[in-house]
Amino acid sequence: MPTVIFNFSDDRQQVVEAAAGQTLMQVAANHGLEGILGDCGGACQCATCHVYIDESWLDRLPEMDGMEDDMLEGVAAPRLAQSRLGCCVTLQAEHEGMAVTFPPTQI
Ligand code: FES
Repeated sequence: MPTVIFNFSDDRQQVVEAAAGQTLMQVAANHGLEGILGDCGGACQCATCHVYIDESWLDRLPEMDGMEDDMLEGVAAPRLAQSRLGCCVTLQAEHEGMAVTFPPTQI
């Protein structure tokens, strides 16, 4: 059961428990975090689940596919090296303590 640290651009922080196999988008939505809308329900079609992953975690994430890469080209906030779509990042036990920041355009 990985713990995920969600950071908001106004310096709030929320630490939540996730279940292995859930995506970051599902975890945020299940906890009512307003930083993620997830309008498409996790189908990689809306980009409203854009997050910035703490750099120290980037090499432990699932590889980005072409669809996610394309969708990230259209996000409202700046696309950074640590940008991912929350619905494309499935958590595993080894992601315990992962830190994620919501773009300022989403809160
Ligand atoms: S929830 Fe729509 S792209 Fe992630």
